[in-house]
Amino acid sequence: MPMPYVPASLPLENLDYKRLIGLVGEANTKLAEYNGLLQSMVNPAILLSPLTNQESVLSSKIEGTQATIDEVLQHDAGQKFADEKERDIQEIINYRSAIMQSYKELVDRPLSLNFIKMLHTILMDSVRGKDKNPGQFRKEQNWIGLPGCTMDTATFVPPSPFTLMDHLENWISYINLNEVDPLIQVAIIHAQFEIIHPFLDGNGRIGRLLIPLFLFYKKRISEPMFYLSEYLEKNRAQYYCELQGITSRSAWNDWIAFFLNAICEQSTMNIEKTKKIMSIYEELRYKIPELTKSQYSQNLLDMLFEKPVFNISNLILKYNIPKSTAPRLVKAILDAGIIEELKPAAGRVSATYWFPRLLTTVR
Ligand SMILES: Nc1ncnc2c1ncn2[C@@H]1O[C@H](COP(=O)(O)OP(=O)(O)OP(=O)(O)O)[C@@H](O)[C@H]1O
Ligand SMILES: [Mg+2]
Repeated sequence: MPMPYVPASLPLENLDYKRLIGLVGEANTKLAEYNGLLQSMVNPAILLSPLTNQESVLSSKIEGTQATIDEVLQHDAGQKFADEKERDIQEIINYRSAIMQSYKELVDRPLSLNFIKMLHTILMDSVRGKDKNPGQFRKEQNWIGLPGCTMDTATFVPPSPFTLMDHLENWISYINLNEVDPLIQVAIIHAQFEIIHPFLDGNGRIGRLLIPLFLFYKKRISEPMFYLSEYLEKNRAQYYCELQGITSRSAWNDWIAFFLNAICEQSTMNIEKTKKIMSIYEELRYKIPELTKSQYSQNLLDMLFEKPVFNISNLILKYNIPKSTAPRLVKAILDAGIIEELKPAAGRVSATYWFPRLLTTVR
C-alpha cells in the first residue's frame, strides 16, 4: 500500500540556481514586456476579458469539461443549453467569477488560507460541486490516478489529512515570504499546492488561478491577468509528468525549469494576442463614435469586448443604453460589418449578434 506523501518543507534548500538563472532572466524579461502592455491599457479588465474567458474555459478543460468559449459567451447572451452542458458552463463561469472576485479582494487583503477557501467556495458553487465540500479542506485521504483507480493503483497519494494543516501553514507562510525570485517562487507554490491537494476536487483549477494572483500580489504584474492554462493544457502530459517527478525523484529543478519555460512561452503568446486586441480596440474607439454619433459609444465599445456575443437586452440592462437608442446603435455597427447576426430573432426572443474579429483573435 503506498504511503501518503510527506511534502518537503518550504523554502526548498539546494536549488540549482546556476542551471535556472538563464531561464529566470528570460521569463522575467518576457513577463515585464507583457506587463508593459498591461500598464498601457486604460481598462485592462475590459480589454482582456477575452483572455479571462479563454483561461476559464481552458483551465476547466484540463479535467474534461466540454463547453467551448462560444458556448459560454452564448450563455452570457441568455441562450439555454441541455442540462449536462449547462453544468459544464456553470463550472467555467464559476472559475471566471473566482478570478474577478479575487481581484477585488487582493487589493487590500493578504493571501491567506481563508482566501483560498473563499476561492474554492466560488469555484464549487454548482450542482456538481455540492458534494465536493466547497470551501473546506479535506478530512479524508485522497489520491491521484486514472479514473476509478484505488489508493493501491494510484500514481500519487497526497499527504494524510492529519498532517494537511501543517503543510498548508508552511505553504502559506512561504507565499508571504520573499524568495530569491518570485517566478521561481510561483513555480514552487503551484506545485506544492498540487502535491498537498488540500481539497476533494478543484485543486488543479485553484492552483492555476493562484498563478496570476500571486504575481499580482508580488507586484510583478499590474493586473492579475497572466494566465497559464493555455500552455499547461497544450502540454498536459508533460505538466503532470513534471509534477510527478517532484514527488518520485525530488526533481524540483526540472519542474521549475518547465514552469519558467511555460511563463516565457505564454508571455509570448499573450503579448501577441494583447497587441491584436489593443489594435482592434484602438480602431473601434474612433470608428464607433463616427458611425453611431452617440453619447453611448463608449458603453457600446466596452460591451463588445466584455460580451462579444450579445443581444439588445444585454445592452439596455447592463450597459445603460436606453431602450430607444440600442437598436439604432446595433444597426449602425451591423451595417458597417463590425458585428454579425449569429441567430435571428424568433418570437419574443431577440436576435443574437457576435463580434467575430475579437473572437477569432483569442482562440
Ligand atoms: N502526479 C501528480 N502530483 C501532483 N499533482 C498532480 C499530479 N498529476 C496531476 N496533478 C495535479 O492535480 C490536478 C487535478 O486535481 P483535481 O481534480 O483536484 O483538480 P481539478 O481542478 O478538479 O481538475 P483539473 O486540474 O484536472 O481540471 C491537475 O490539474 C494537476 O495540477
Ligand atoms: Mg477534478
